[in-house]
Amino acid sequence: MSCDHIGIGLIGFGTVGSGVWNTLQKNGSLITKRTGTGSLQIRKITVRDLDKKREGNAPAELFNTDWTETVHDPSVDLVIELIGGKSVAFDLISAALIAGKPVVTGNKALLAERGAELFALSKKHNTPIHFEAAVAGGIPIIKAVQDSLVGNRIKSLVGIINGTSNYILERMTVAGLSYLEALTEAKDLGYAEADETLDVNGWDAAHKAILLASLSHGFLIDPAEVYVRGIEKVRPIDIRFAKELGYVIKLLSIVRENKDGSIELRTQPSFIPASHILAHVNGVFNAISVDTDAAGEGLFYGRGAGQDPTASSVVADLVEASRLMAQPGPHRGFLPYEEKGSIQPINDTSTAYYVRFDVTDRPGVIAEISQMLADAGIGISGTHSPVNPDNPDADFVDLVFQLHTAPFGLLRDTLAVIEKLDCINDRPTVFRIEQLATS
Ligand code: HSE
Repeated sequence: MSCDHIGIGLIGFGTVGSGVWNTLQKNGSLITKRTGTGSLQIRKITVRDLDKKREGNAPAELFNTDWTETVHDPSVDLVIELIGGKSVAFDLISAALIAGKPVVTGNKALLAERGAELFALSKKHNTPIHFEAAVAGGIPIIKAVQDSLVGNRIKSLVGIINGTSNYILERMTVAGLSYLEALTEAKDLGYAEADETLDVNGWDAAHKAILLASLSHGFLIDPAEVYVRGIEKVRPIDIRFAKELGYVIKLLSIVRENKDGSIELRTQPSFIPASHILAHVNGVFNAISVDTDAAGEGLFYGRGAGQDPTASSVVADLVEASRLMAQPGPHRGFLPYEEKGSIQPINDTSTAYYVRFDVTDRPGVIAEISQMLADAGIGISGTHSPVNPDNPDADFVDLVFQLHTAPFGLLRDTLAVIEKLDCINDRPTVFRIEQLATS
């Protein structure tokens, strides 16, 4: 590395990779003036297919199809991984760390699932992994938790951290689009992952929540211990009932420290009060409400996906990596600092609930369900069963129960019995009704 230039190897030139190129073209000299770290120069770019038509004006001679050429090039001082996935990305990040080249990545799935191996390599080779772009696009939440709030105990992080699903839910709610129409729009806008499954099944948000939990509480988390549900099963009828009852459905991720030190960690579509600030986070925007013992509550809000916002986070990491490289010393990136911690079993977590039953309407249905809930000690705070004015004697109706706070395991067991009633036509639909700190 010369003091005047930092050589960068960029692996992946899709939406975000080309955004990084564009940002450095546009703001490179401003960044150099601000930071004094030397100019950031992309010297090699690895792509899968050289013939693919691409955005941006990166010179053809920078491109190759072999990541080893990029990682091991002597003019490359640090490596950006933006290909996603958990196999090749793992290999190339490992190779970079072993070669002592800091890594910048947006790969939340890889870090959440194979973080143990990668952070061990990072430690062994005293070479940091920077991952601001992995969580919440352009919002600097990683640095906030890692640096700005380092003197705080993090009591909770509650947020909307998947732009694609937030976009889809909003378009279904406000524009009345079908799930598939809204998903197609999100893909066209470049918000969704290459494989959008992770966006809609909740795992993209869950991976981000796992990283936030590790940053906040110091231990690495086995994804198998984390409760995750996506938005694929959210139906227009639930969106409508939520509205009638004064709520909005959001894919919410929660990282909360309990009094016994265990961590509640879950991602699922939830009812939140329509008046709550998070209910107004729309489109591709993300927001994370952070509650800490010293700084108190704060809200981080911004674009959670998309080319330029995510490139902004990658570039911030490049600058941080360059600064650290200019002053060699002990490891200053993230490393787990607790051997282990405990994740609260999902059955022990308690909230209020919305439960929708698809029933064959006959006298006594409400009484039977109510009795079973009462036998289990689960209180009912309201029922909702709108009658279709065109067909008041309909045989099949949607019956909604709003339930008082109860452990999830108790609700599950009780519903398993209720759904055996002959009047119940389908598995009940359950949403949590979240009580959030500030409404
Ligand atoms: N697909 C992700 C999202 C991109 O929609 O939030 C940012 O991680």
